[in-house]
Amino acid sequence: MLVSLEEAVQLLQKGSLVAVPTETVYGLAARFDDEKAIEQIFTLKGRPRNNPLIIHIAKASDALPFITTSPPGFEQLAAAFWPGPLTCVLPATEKISSVVRANLSTAAFRVPSLGVTQKLIEMTGPLVMPSANISGTPSATSYKHIEADFGKDFPVLKGEGCLRGVESTIIIFQNSSWVVGRLGAIPLEEIAAVLGVMPIVLKKTSDTAPLCPGLLHKHYAPKAHLVFGEENQSKATHILGFFERSYPSDKTVFYLGSLNKPEEVARNLYTLLRKLDECRVDCAWIDMDFPKQGLWKTISERVFRAANA
Ligand code: TXA
Ligand code: MG
Repeated sequence: MLVSLEEAVQLLQKGSLVAVPTETVYGLAARFDDEKAIEQIFTLKGRPRNNPLIIHIAKASDALPFITTSPPGFEQLAAAFWPGPLTCVLPATEKISSVVRANLSTAAFRVPSLGVTQKLIEMTGPLVMPSANISGTPSATSYKHIEADFGKDFPVLKGEGCLRGVESTIIIFQNSSWVVGRLGAIPLEEIAAVLGVMPIVLKKTSDTAPLCPGLLHKHYAPKAHLVFGEENQSKATHILGFFERSYPSDKTVFYLGSLNKPEEVARNLYTLLRKLDECRVDCAWIDMDFPKQGLWKTISERVFRAANA
């Protein structure tokens, strides 16, 4: 159910959850200081309690009361990318509920750029928002996706849509340097240009798990079995491919976009992964023959995780 800005503010103030569009994906919002509503986020999503939430703020300085130090490089990152799809994990004070932090000594912050989301946060104060989807499934990038996961009556703030289509890039300050906890809408090359070094990307190991719980959990996967590589094409009835390519005529092709427009491909990715399930597809083949730098690197990582590969 679409709701206006004023209705969304009222709902959040009385302790309800509201799905909120951002420039990346929809978020499932609760007020930062409403522990009961925050508990409901975990229950509604089926989200493991050891997976912390991002705190969405209106401007960079709003993070300052909640962090113990402002690490070197933070101001530059904030100036370059906020408002926008970068999430910074910073040393947190005890003012942040341990439920939000999942008992870590850090907390994640982001300033979203979509106009209506900014206005909402200015009116309600900081909002915690995980992606608005059932845990493990592809994130929601349209109002219809929220309806599919949470029902037609679930309140969704009216907004312009998720133009980036993939989640924010997460960057974590640890041991005096910045490491990437999740590839995302901001390519690594752009972050390197600000920091002066290419940040390391964390891989899923027992060492990184405590630092970046999101690496541990299943993510972005449709029910359909997703395969790639020429040898697997014959298993599939459907293909996720590119406008410039031709594919076997006995398959149904869903087009991700153009090989010249990774932004378009990122924007369409979750919609098409969800469309596979809407069409009850058992097995789909995805064309992975695309570049592996810039935003393509994020697209490739999402596809691997969607395929549980
Ligand atoms: O684009 C986005 O980031 C979207 C929109 C709604 O802002 N949000 C989003 O939230 O993707 P979620 O909850 O689906 O993913 C947040 C990720 C999780 O993998 C979580 O583990 C990680 O952020 N995270 C949160 N707090 C953290 C912390 N203190 N240290 C390390 N990782 C953290
Ligand atoms: Mg998520």
